[in-house]
Formats: sequence, C-alpha cells, structure tokens
Amino acid sequence: MILPLLALLITAKAVEPSRTLLNNDWKFSLGYAGDMSKDFMHGTEYFTYITKAKSNRENKGPAWEGFDDSSWQTVSLPHDWVVDLPYSSEASHSHGYKCIGWKYPENSAGWYRKTIFIPESDKGSTIMVEFEGIFRNSQVFINGFFLGGEESGYQSSVYDMTDYLNYGENNVITVRCDASLEEGWFYEGAGIYRNVYLIKAGTRYIKPYSVAITDNIATSGNGATLKFSAEAVFNGTATTDGISWKASLCDKNGSLVAQSTASDIRNLSLSANDIKLWSIDSPNLYTVRLDLLYNGEISDSYTSNYGFRKVEFSPEKGFVLNGKKIILKGCNLHLDHAGVGTGVSDELWRYRLTTLQKFGFNAIRCSHNAASPSMLNLCDKLGIVVIDENREFGVNERQFSQLRRMIYRDRNHPSVILWSIGNEEWALEWDTRSLAIAEKLSAVAHEADPTRPTTYGNCSGPYIGHSVDVFGYNYIIQNTPTEDHLSSPMTTAVGTEETSGSGTRGKYVTVPENGWMLSINREGVRANQNATDKENTDDSTLYNVIERGWKYYHQNEWTGGLFYWTGTDYRGESNPMVWPATGSQFGILDYCSFPKDEAFYLKSWWSSEPVLHICGEYNNEVWVYSNCPVIELFRNGKSLGKKAMPEDSHLVWNVPSDGKNAVYTARAFDRKGKRLSISDRYPAVLPELDVTCSKSSLLADGQDVVVLEIDSNKDVLNVATENCTLLGWGNGDPGFKEIERPVGKDSQTVSSQSLPIKPFSGKALLIVRSLAGSEGTASVSFSSGDKTIKTVSIGIQKQ
Ligand code: GAL
Repeated sequence: MILPLLALLITAKAVEPSRTLLNNDWKFSLGYAGDMSKDFMHGTEYFTYITKAKSNRENKGPAWEGFDDSSWQTVSLPHDWVVDLPYSSEASHSHGYKCIGWKYPENSAGWYRKTIFIPESDKGSTIMVEFEGIFRNSQVFINGFFLGGEESGYQSSVYDMTDYLNYGENNVITVRCDASLEEGWFYEGAGIYRNVYLIKAGTRYIKPYSVAITDNIATSGNGATLKFSAEAVFNGTATTDGISWKASLCDKNGSLVAQSTASDIRNLSLSANDIKLWSIDSPNLYTVRLDLLYNGEISDSYTSNYGFRKVEFSPEKGFVLNGKKIILKGCNLHLDHAGVGTGVSDELWRYRLTTLQKFGFNAIRCSHNAASPSMLNLCDKLGIVVIDENREFGVNERQFSQLRRMIYRDRNHPSVILWSIGNEEWALEWDTRSLAIAEKLSAVAHEADPTRPTTYGNCSGPYIGHSVDVFGYNYIIQNTPTEDHLSSPMTTAVGTEETSGSGTRGKYVTVPENGWMLSINREGVRANQNATDKENTDDSTLYNVIERGWKYYHQNEWTGGLFYWTGTDYRGESNPMVWPATGSQFGILDYCSFPKDEAFYLKSWWSSEPVLHICGEYNNEVWVYSNCPVIELFRNGKSLGKKAMPEDSHLVWNVPSDGKNAVYTARAFDRKGKRLSISDRYPAVLPELDVTCSKSSLLADGQDVVVLEIDSNKDVLNVATENCTLLGWGNGDPGFKEIERPVGKDSQTVSSQSLPIKPFSGKALLIVRSLAGSEGTASVSFSSGDKTIKTVSIGIQKQ
C-alpha cells in the first residue's frame, strides 16, 4: 500500500506555494486547568490522544473534529482572553491582579477551534500551519490527530498537517493552551496572541526557519553579493534529489534587481550594484524571494524583507551602523497594550511603534522574550533597530534550542542588531558557574548567526556581562560602566535598561488607594509605599533620573546608547505600588501610548522638531521641557522671567505654594530673542470632546484597526460602534479595572456595540477593528447622558 501512495505524492503537480493569514473566525472557550473532567473530558478516553495518534473510541473533547463548538465565542486572532477576566487583590501582582494563573484553574486553560476547507486539488502538496506565538504550553491537533506542542509562550511553531487532512472536505484545527504557569514577572496574557498562517507548498518544501541570507556589503562601496543557506525537505527529511534554487532581489517598488539559480544552495549568490543601504533614517528595504524548484517547477517559496547594512559595536564609538556612529535612543517593551492585552494586531503594532518614533525612539529591546514577528517586520520598514531576547538561560538542549529557534526565525530582519542571551539571572550573576553558561549560550548564538554580536541585561553581577560581546548594563547606578571602561578599554556596551522615573500621566501626587504614583523624576525619592519618611528623604539618587540616563550615554561616546525601562506602561509589575494599582508606571508613554511629561524631555533632545512642554507644579516648582534656546514662563499671565535652556536638560521656576490653582503659559525665543511660534499652557484646556483617528479608513479584512485618541472633559462617555468591532479601550490609569471590551458569544462579530468609557487625565483611547467583508462606512458615536456629542465616520475599503 505504501509504495503506490508515495509514488502518487512524488508525481502529483505542486500547488502554487502560499502563506495565508488564518486569523479570522476562530471559536474560543475557556477550559479547565488541572482537572480533565472539567476540561471537556479532553484526554480521558480509554485510548488517549497521545498514546494513540488519535483517539478513535469515545471521542469527547474539542480535539475531536465532531465536537460541537456552536456555543463557543467567535473570535478573531490575535486574541488574549485575560483581557476579559476580572481583577482581584488575591491574584498575581506581577500579572496585574488579573484572575489568571494557578489560583484560577477555571480561567487558565483555553481552547481554540478553526474549521478550514482543503480542496481536493491540494492533494499532493504539503500543508502546514504556523503559530507565531501561543501563551502557553500549547497542544495542537488537526482532525483529532496530535500535531505537537510548545511549552514556551514566545516561540513560533510550524506543524505539518499534510498526512492527516481530509481533501475536498472540512478539517478542524484545535489548540489547547494553559497559562497556569507564569513565564515572566510581568503580564503575559493567554491564548493565540500572535498571527497564524496556513502554508501550502509542493512535495518538496523549504524547512521552516532554515533560510539564512548574508551579504558582504562594504560601507565604502555600493555593490554587494548575497549568499544563502537553506534546507529542502521531503516528508520532513532533508533532500537534494531533483532540487534547484532560484533567488530574486527586488527593490522597494517591486522591480527586479538581480536573479540567479543554482542546483546547490551553497553556490547560489546574487550580485547587485547601486545598493541603497538600510539605516534608521532611510530604511531602504528590498525583498528577497527564494524559490525551491523540484524538477524545474517551483515547489516552495520563501520571501523576506532584506536590508543591506553593516552593524558594528566599537569600544571607541559604541554602535556603528554603516560606518557611522549612531546613539541608540531606545526603550524596553513588553508585548501588551491597553484594550487588547498581548493580542496586538499588526496595525496596532504600527500605531505603537510610530508613536514611539514621534518622541525620537530609534531602538527597542524585546524584554524579555523573542520578538513578535509582526513587530520585527514593521521595525524593518520603519527603521527601528531591535535587541531580540532569549527567554530561558541554561545549557541543556531545551534552552539551546529556544535560543537557536529565535535566531533562525529572526536572522534575516535588518532591524535586529543584537541577540540577548538573557536578563538579570539573580541566582547565577554572582556565581562563577554563570561564566560557562553564558559563554555556551553566546557560542550557540554565534553558530546560529555569525553576523551579529550577543548581549545580556546585567543586573550588577561580575561575570555574565563580560561573557558576551556587548556588555548590557541594566542601570548605571547598580553597575560600574565607567570603571569597566577604564580597566578594560576594549569593552563595548549598551544600557540595556535605564530608569525613566515616570509616574502616572497627568498626576502630581502619589495616591496609593488609586494606584497613582508621582513621577520619581520630580519627587526625587523612591515612591515606595512601605518606605519610612527617613528612607524616602535619604534616597535622593532617583531625582531627575531620566536626564541622568540620557546624559550619561550621550556623554560617554564609547557606549552604544540606552534602552529606558520602559517605552510604554504594561500591565502587572506595578512596583513600587501594589493593589489597587494594576499596571506598571515605568513607561515614558502610558498604557495607551499617551505621552507623560518625560516623553517631552526625550523629544526635546532626540527629535529635530521644536518642543515646549510645561509640567504641572510640584513642590513649589514648575519644570519646562524644551529644545528652544530661551523660554519665558508666565503665571496667571504674569511673567516669571526668561531663562536659557541648557543642553540635555530642563528649566525650573520656583512658584508660590498656591501654584496648583494657577495657569502657566510658556513662550519660546531663539538665541537672538526672536519669538518662536510654539507655545504651551498648563493645565491644558480640555474640550468637551476631540477625536483623532489614526487613519480615515478600515480595510475590510477583519484585521485592520483604527485607533481613536479621545480628549475630553467628561467623566464618562458612552461609545456606540456600527459596522466595526469595538476591540477595546483604555485610559492609561494605572489603577484601571474597567471592562475593556464587550464580552459575549458574538461580541467580536456583531456590527453594533456599545460601552461606557472613562477618560483619565482628560484622555482615553479606543480601538475599532474592521469586520471581514463589510461594506459602506463604519461609525463611532460618543454620547453623554442622552446627548450625542459626536459621530465619527470611518471609510471601509474592500479587501
Ligand atoms: C529590572 C528587570 C525588568 C523590570 C525592572 C523593573 O530589574 O530586568 O524586567 O522588572 O527591573 O524595575
């Protein structure tokens, strides 16, 4: 029986290779962690799913294709079910007091099912499914057959479904995941929170994540040769029989720049002249397409962004891109965002990244996990460089393979400049055993990608930081970068973490019962609820830390720059606050990506745009952030005098103690005393309602989102959406505990929804998503009481 079947596979004509997003129309239900009798009886059959390829007895659970999921919720991916869970003071502090984790088995396992039709004509091809990330401990099934699983919540996985499919019929993909265990000490969400793709290829296909593309670009010349490595597989086993390769390089307009073929991938090369380099300022992006040919016909294709650039870390100049010193003006980012948790769609990633760019950020450290592939694609396009970070620190095959898989997946992105092998391993950093572990992990990284250096986020221990290529300093006050540089002048370094000192947006007071925290930059002491007054007064080292960090890395040319902790707030780790605070306040932008005062400090010195920003009064002082040469501050219309702005710094005016009720305005002047057109006022005059949309139309693909920034003096606004999904909202309040989106069986598919939203410090953010196949226009109405204040129309573009 076997031989004729194989012969059929070999001779069958290949389908057109394709990679199709499989994010829409999934069914979702919570299961139960740790009690199979409550988890749809999954795995309780006489012959269970793992001991047999598929249970063919009393199939009961959701893995069985005949399971009735009609009562489950219809969701579109990316999806994080924790968004819809309640908060409790008993729940995990690190995960934002959301009722997820070992204490809440009823909330911690989730099931997803997706029905796909596979046509008869696909017979003879290879059909795979790729999950870019499932949090966590996933098991994946097709038609009840166990495909495999992945413990890590941050790895991508590809499963070959070919042999289990029913051709000309429906097929059911089932995923179970279990988030009982926390991988990190910050909010991590749960579910299929990244994109899913259906991949079709011929019988011979390119082994997933096996392609490496390298070039020999010289910063002096403009010609380059590309070299390739990749593995062809047939039924999962490496093969070279009948195989040849074709590589094509296209410029950003899609015009072919170079093409060549070879029967052995090692001999495949592409040469091109007049190459435009990829850089932060000009992210010139090419596309490389690698075709695998079997008996002369295309059997599979791999397409990747490609950027020609030369990355170096120098002990004198720090980070050098294409021969030019660049200061990394970076931030750390966790994955989650207001309204959607970790389920950040591509367009929302674009919003997050472009907002950071507006304040001058040019670099991101993915703390503390492998990056989101969507984020990396956008960083390639936008010109943002990235530190991609490994999750598990250890020397067994499990840990090595986690690091390798991250590198194999991400090595062709021009945006990635460093592989981080880990972060603050407290149990090992002061232990000599860490030396060998770090060296081995670094060697694994070099073997997987000889073109990029390694780093590590060093807490303050003496060993690991020196065992990688580029020393990653987590905070200058707890490490000794200057001393290290003097004693080892060949050290290369970046500031992998540096305190932002930010607090609650728009609040100049610490209110533990609200979860609000005054910015440490202003207070000058640790806003620690449990610290004594004496401890608070003594600890002045944290005063104005945002400036301290930037000045250090700006002045110390030998370093590569820094990554603030963090770019945006994230849920969980609300330190030093505790319940009822639910979110961190380390962000320079809040959880909605709205700027806090400190964002304007950075924008002043990191961007070329004129900036003038008055911070609210605290402790009889008003601070002004600006990059204009001279500033004049007015209090209730009366001038408090002009002051010259020192570089990389800020200005302070002492004001009377009733300052909180006063109105401050500021004017800016050039060096010759000529007034500049920019001005600012504190407090800002809040409108009844202003709405700014991130764009004017939605693509009707069920994935596209429009972000609505809301400025309003109202305490509550009722929002009603038509012809789009109300995907989520937020307001940046670190004590946030509201319902973030409508919840119900059809809440992600019905076309009319409503929800109250509450602006915080005058702002709220709303995210709406397109409905697949919709037509006409979408609308969002805002009302207060019975009065409709505004209706915003959003065009719908056909897919
Ligand atoms: C660092 C750690 C980060 C975050 C930060 C909070 O030590 O690497 O993940 O926890 O502290 O201050």
